[in-house]
Amino acid sequence: MNDLTAFTGNHVLSVAQFDRPQIERVFSVADNMLPYALREKRTQVLDGAILGNLFFEPSTRTRVSFGTAFNLLGGEVRETTGMSNSALAKGESLYDTARVLSGYSDIIAMRHPQAGSVAEFATGSRVPVINGGDGANEHPTQALLDLYTIEKERKSNGEGIDGLHIAMIGDLKYGRTVHSLSKLLCLYKNIHFTLISPAELAMPSEICDMISDAGHQLNITDQFEGSLQADICYQTRIQEERFPSQEEANKYRGKFRLNQQIYTKHFQSKTVIMHPLPRDSRVEANELDNDLNLNPNLAIFRQTDNGVLVRMALFALTLGVDNKVSDFDRPVHWFSNKGQNI
Ligand code: NCD
Repeated sequence: MNDLTAFTGNHVLSVAQFDRPQIERVFSVADNMLPYALREKRTQVLDGAILGNLFFEPSTRTRVSFGTAFNLLGGEVRETTGMSNSALAKGESLYDTARVLSGYSDIIAMRHPQAGSVAEFATGSRVPVINGGDGANEHPTQALLDLYTIEKERKSNGEGIDGLHIAMIGDLKYGRTVHSLSKLLCLYKNIHFTLISPAELAMPSEICDMISDAGHQLNITDQFEGSLQADICYQTRIQEERFPSQEEANKYRGKFRLNQQIYTKHFQSKTVIMHPLPRDSRVEANELDNDLNLNPNLAIFRQTDNGVLVRMALFALTLGVDNKVSDFDRPVHWFSNKGQNI
C-alpha cells in the first residue's frame, strides 16, 4: 500500500504495509464507527456481503469481534473453526482451501498456527484476506487496536504517540501481538521501549534491531527494576501452545506477575495497563491479577471494545465503503444502554 485509496481490495497481512497517514485513516474511520458499536444507530452498508471467518487456532475475542464488526456493518458471517473440522485435515493445501472459500465469501479473516500461513493462503484467495494471527509471527489487527487504544488513552492527557515510553512484559519471543505493535511503534518518534522478559523469551533480535535502527531508546532486562517511568505497561501471557513442550512453558509461567502492589512499586500512578487477552487466570500463571480490575488505568476491556471499531474500519476500507457507511443508516428499535457501560 502506498496511498490512502490503496486499502480497497487489498489483503491486510502485516503491519509493515502501513505508513502513518494510513494508520491515521484507519483510526479516523474507526472513530466514525462508535455510534454503530454503541447501537445508537445501525447501517446496512455491507448488506449482502459475506465474511468467511476461518480460525484454525483457538480464539474468542478476535474471531467474535471480526464477526461482530462485520454484522454491525450489515454483512453476514460464515464460520469455520478448528483444523479437524476442515478439509485441511484431509491434506488440502492452504492454496486450494483459499481458492474454494474465496468463492463463497467477499472477504476472509483467517488465523492459523504457522508463521507465514495467512500470506500463503492469500496467494490462492480471490478476495481480500485479513490476518487474524499467524503463529508467532504477526497479529496486525491487534496491533492496530492496541495503538488506537494507546492513542485514545494518551489523548485524554493531551499527549500523542510520539515520545511514548512503553514497557512490554512476559513472553516477547512467541507473543505475536508485541511483535506487530513494536513494528508499528517504530513509525513514530522518540519511542522508549523497556522490554522485560526471561532471556530465553526475549524479543526477536530483528525487531530489536528495527527499534534501534529507527533511533528509538531500547532497554532490555529480565526483571522489574526500580521505578519505571513507563506510560504504558503491556503485559502478555506465556504462549504455552508455541513451546516445544508443556514442561518448558511451565518454567516461565508466573514469572512476571502484575498486581496492584507490584504496579504501585514499579509504575507511575497514571501508567496505563494493557494486555491483548486472554489473561491466564490460573493460580500458577496469573500474570495480571484481578486486584487490578477496579484500577481506572486498566485498559484491557477498552482494548477489546476498540477492537470492534478498528475491525469495522478495516472491513469498510478494504471493501471500499468507508465513505458510504452513513448513507445506509437505520434506526435502532430495541433497548440498549451500551454507551453507559463504556
Ligand atoms: C493474542 C493472540 O492470539 O496472539 N490474543 C488475541 O488475539 N487477543 C494473545 C494471546 O493469545 O496471548
